[in-house]
Amino acid sequence: MVVKEHPILGTCENEEYVNITVDGEPLQVRAGSMIAPALLEQGIRVNRYTRKEHKPRGIFCGIGQCTDCVMIVNGQPNVRTCITRVEEGMVIETQNKVEKEEA
Ligand code: FES
Repeated sequence: MVVKEHPILGTCENEEYVNITVDGEPLQVRAGSMIAPALLEQGIRVNRYTRKEHKPRGIFCGIGQCTDCVMIVNGQPNVRTCITRVEEGMVIETQNKVEKEEA
């Protein structure tokens, strides 16, 4: 899902990665990327759930305007992940995640 060759921007040569944790799982993601697209590259499409109906939300605007992509980053809620860069050691959690009850 990453554009590595672009007709105008050229070839992506960034092969540096940082280590982050997402909902307790360690991941390596591309350094310099914003959080939301870095997670999308890893197949993570849900960033938060709505409070009342617990409906999943992910990237919508991608420019920091809609707040659909907010997550808990290093303990701080409501971080717009589409405009926040990944950093080494970041701890990221899905916001308003409801754990499924065991049957
Ligand atoms: S996707 Fe809209 S603020 Fe991030």
